[in-house]
Amino acid sequence: MLTIPEEGNVIWRGDRSLLILGDAREILPLIPSESVDAIITDPPYGIGYASYDSEESAEVFFELEEEFFRVLKPHSWFVFWWSQKNLPEAFRFKNFEYCWMMITAYQRANSRCPLGWKAYQPILIFRKGSPKVLAKRQDTIPGIELPSFNIKVKQRDFKPTYVQATLLAMFGQNGVVLDPFAGFGSLLVANAATGVSRLVVGIEKDEERAREAARLLSC
Ligand SMILES: C[S@@+](CC[C@H](N)C(=O)[O-])C[C@H]1O[C@@H](n2cnc3c(N)ncnc32)[C@H](O)[C@@H]1O
Repeated sequence: MLTIPEEGNVIWRGDRSLLILGDAREILPLIPSESVDAIITDPPYGIGYASYDSEESAEVFFELEEEFFRVLKPHSWFVFWWSQKNLPEAFRFKNFEYCWMMITAYQRANSRCPLGWKAYQPILIFRKGSPKVLAKRQDTIPGIELPSFNIKVKQRDFKPTYVQATLLAMFGQNGVVLDPFAGFGSLLVANAATGVSRLVVGIEKDEERAREAARLLSC
């Protein structure tokens, strides 16, 4: 079982979830090597929402590659939401092998790309070793909420809980899953709703976001 030293600022601890307020660059080194079954995350993409030209840095994501590789078990998944504008950037990872891409399909266009508005978002699947897919493989997942999650979250970064639950089932069944950029906590919320005995550990550096995630988890 994964144990994280208490230096991390735990702001939510549930039966199957742990949310740590802190910088992933400081918390990851506290996690034992080869203790994580999957990383499923939604990193800073290097692209803002207000305009597709407003950049924010995705460097921290690439900076952490060695740590991601170290904490993952020998056969494990590295799965992340991404923007299609910056698709080529995702292939900067050197240690992980690219497998395939999945799509979240929204009912309405909700963000912009250089060709106009779009209604989908890519999720990229990389791997370390030869892990197995643990549930029926899907390529296109509807961007909707789980029926049991009926809270309206207005934050655009909050990812649809149905998609997060599908990713957990395919790549993290019963294991330890790490989300180093947990934001408002959609992966943890989805995990709590599924009732499967896996542990999801989230790290979020923004206190307001982490507190909102803890609030959602307590609902
Ligand atoms: C795209 S958002 C994640 C949204 C999340 N999936 C959700 O459903 O709310 C990326 C998050 O990474 C966080 N972040 C950026 N750099 C970080 C770092 N060094 N350590 C921890 N979190 C970080 C940001 O504060 C932001 O909340």
